Amino acid sequence: MYLVSIKSLKPNDILGKAIVSEKGQVLLNKGVKLDEHYINILDKYGYQFVYIEDDDTKDITVEDDISDELKTTAIKTIKKVFDIVTPTKDDNVDDFKEIIKKIEKGEIKKKLADSPFIKSIESMAYDIVNSLGDVKVLNGMASLKRQDNFTYQHCLDVTILSVALASKLLYTKKRLIELAKGCLLHDIGRILINKSLYTQPRKLSDAEFELIKKHPQIGYLVLKDVSQVGIIGSHIAYQHHEQQDGLGYPRGLKGNNLLPVPDKVTEEGYIMPLAEIVCVTNVYDALVSPRAYRSAYTPDQAFFIMKRMAGKQLNIEAFRVFSDMIPAYPIGTTVYILNGKYKNFIGVVSKVNQENLTRPTVRLLYNASKKRISPLEIDLMKNPIINIAGIII
Ligand SMILES: [Fe+2]
Repeated sequence: MYLVSIKSLKPNDILGKAIVSEKGQVLLNKGVKLDEHYINILDKYGYQFVYIEDDDTKDITVEDDISDELKTTAIKTIKKVFDIVTPTKDDNVDDFKEIIKKIEKGEIKKKLADSPFIKSIESMAYDIVNSLGDVKVLNGMASLKRQDNFTYQHCLDVTILSVALASKLLYTKKRLIELAKGCLLHDIGRILINKSLYTQPRKLSDAEFELIKKHPQIGYLVLKDVSQVGIIGSHIAYQHHEQQDGLGYPRGLKGNNLLPVPDKVTEEGYIMPLAEIVCVTNVYDALVSPRAYRSAYTPDQAFFIMKRMAGKQLNIEAFRVFSDMIPAYPIGTTVYILNGKYKNFIGVVSKVNQENLTRPTVRLLYNASKKRISPLEIDLMKNPIINIAGIII
């Protein structure tokens, strides 16, 4: 199977992976032959990518980092918790002070703390930490996000990436669970802000952007007294947009670019080590996911952008370890050849080489004139001269 953009789907393409809604319903099953009607449905639901398969790519399987079942349950749980804080039509305020007033009344926090779903967040955190174990290399592809479930999917993806990175940095299981709880809910503050602001394809006004920049603080204020989330969890929400240079938001905390290891103490005015991890994974997942105003970046493009951010915005050491855990060209993604005998050929990554995550094995499927060819496999570890770049087809 391989990943393609909805725009390039053609009738008779075969779905390589089932499409499951956040309610856990299978919308389209693996193996379904697509027609115009199905393609329109996928488009209408807001899917931007799907996996398809054909005879030449049948043996390429994309393994998710956690099981589909755990993924679906986690998404459902995040949605249930976020629904509790979702403003009603008459309650939808656009002003920061009004939102704070609403939180200070205490009803939202009480509803959260009393909800069975906040308990489920704890068990989700536990299950995700257990199921990741001591994974060394992640799949690297973002979940197939849709515009209207973007936040839940993003929260789950950031959880998986952060737990894996913290586990590599040798945090204890107890800390990993606290981290996971915070990550699962880290964008809860966005939910209290008028939803329409996030789906605007236009540029936001300064005032609108300033309000959006308050979402970590709003999230913190909602979570801070909810005992099930804990102090670490609520501070993950508070600090996930801070930067090394102190130019992040909402407080302008700083970082010292040191490896965020377990025994490091947080100094006053600095980002706490576990949140440093989330500041990196949050940027990665945002880049590899499509937004209303731009399409998704491929992982190699995301790394290129993040390399320039490392040291100034992102913790350089956390980024270094992170980039050793994510394949620049994940399995099932499309790449094109930049030079040599196969210049401008297009292929699909058929194997990630664990020794070097930037040199996968590629199965060439199209020649330079974009004509389909019989598959031709090249291992970039054995062909050091050939360079590739990720593309979205
Ligand atoms: Fe955020």
